[in-house]
Amino acid sequence: MKVLVVGGGGREHALCWKISKSPLVTAVYCAPGNVGISNHASCVDIKVTDIDSLVRFAKAEEIELTIVGPEIPLSLGIVDRFEEEGLNIFGPNQAAAEIESSKAYSKNLMKKYDIPTAFFSTFDDYNEAVNWVKEVKPPLVIKADGLAAGKGVIICHTEEEAIGVLDDIMNSKIFGDSGNQVVIEEFLQGEEVSFIAFTDGENVVPLESSQDHKALLDGDQGPNTGGMGAYSPAPIVTPELHAAIMNQVMIPTVEAMKAEGREYKGILYAGLMINGSDIKVLEYNCRFGDPEAQPLLMRMRSDIVPLIREISTGGVAKGEIQWYDDASVCVVMASKGYPGDYKKGFKIHRINDVDNMEGVLVFHSGTSRDDEHIVANGGRVLGVTALGSNIPDAINAVYKAVNYIDNDSLYFRTDIGKKALKYI
Ligand code: AMP
Ligand code: GLY
Repeated sequence: MKVLVVGGGGREHALCWKISKSPLVTAVYCAPGNVGISNHASCVDIKVTDIDSLVRFAKAEEIELTIVGPEIPLSLGIVDRFEEEGLNIFGPNQAAAEIESSKAYSKNLMKKYDIPTAFFSTFDDYNEAVNWVKEVKPPLVIKADGLAAGKGVIICHTEEEAIGVLDDIMNSKIFGDSGNQVVIEEFLQGEEVSFIAFTDGENVVPLESSQDHKALLDGDQGPNTGGMGAYSPAPIVTPELHAAIMNQVMIPTVEAMKAEGREYKGILYAGLMINGSDIKVLEYNCRFGDPEAQPLLMRMRSDIVPLIREISTGGVAKGEIQWYDDASVCVVMASKGYPGDYKKGFKIHRINDVDNMEGVLVFHSGTSRDDEHIVANGGRVLGVTALGSNIPDAINAVYKAVNYIDNDSLYFRTDIGKKALKYI
């Protein structure tokens, strides 16, 4: 089977690596891909938003299965277009992807179907939003309704700060049309968990638990990023909590989407806040997490392709995914300055040496080639990922690898996985 993966970050590198190992697959293509991906797939120079060209490519190459990594093409309706053209594709259609592309939509869905989430209100009028902020006590969280690359959520500690943020989003439009509407919600205490599952629109097949580190700096300080590292499994997710997440969140969400006439097929990712036995949904994503995909796919023993093919062809998602017992930790190495302005074009050394270390893989997020050198070409540059017999071992292994690659232009957190240690 010929497979096309759409995307070009660390998540897509991990997907191409995993898919290329499937005995069912004869060729993997990736659009646009990156330098690391080109070790496992033929990279095709088509942007993820250029759906017409992706359709033409899939037809010309007789691609039998297309897998979409990022949210943007899903929110633009890539699945609808491919299906209209009779092409097989994995992911939610545009209406179902609204679970991620509109926070107002997902919050109202949760309210209607009693799926636990923070108390909230939505506004498209600045003055009404300001009045509400004056009524409820900070801290509170303001979220631009639409997609904003993980940057559209701002935690406000004072009323003045909240009003300033509303002005930036709703009047100055710092996130463009994504800020036409805002969600304002209560600030939740607790620990975050990423819960990711496959679904055929009815059945839910969960992956193992994982935890992202969204803040830039150690100790979860500093601005939010796309994710600075992740590990799996997340020991905070006990078997009891896992069952509760399935029963309170995952299954009701899939049922709710079906009841709304927006049957949800693909990967459903719930970002959760856990406080003791209390579970609340912070957000949904309509795709694999990045960087969560890197440690999860490295731990996955089962072939991922049969389940994806089954769902994309209208079959039933059943069975359990098998996992290696090892834990896995992924540390993102970013260009210094990210998530603000950052340098590009500097050389990165020793990647191949690290890739050859036992139990370590270097997934590329933002790299390109300059003559024979690999150079940085994005904010998040690499996702160094290691297996270990337990989380402390995986932490030791990953930081040994990261320190080997480290240079003056790269930045990484030094505490990825540390939060897990208190549970083991
Ligand atoms: P979201 O894109 O909605 O998941 O928000 C991005 C990040 O902001 C989350 O991963 C949390 O770290 C934080 N966040 C979002 N909503 C809340 C909330 N209600 N309370 C506390 N932190 C939140
Ligand atoms: N790691 C968070 C995300 O993929 O949105």
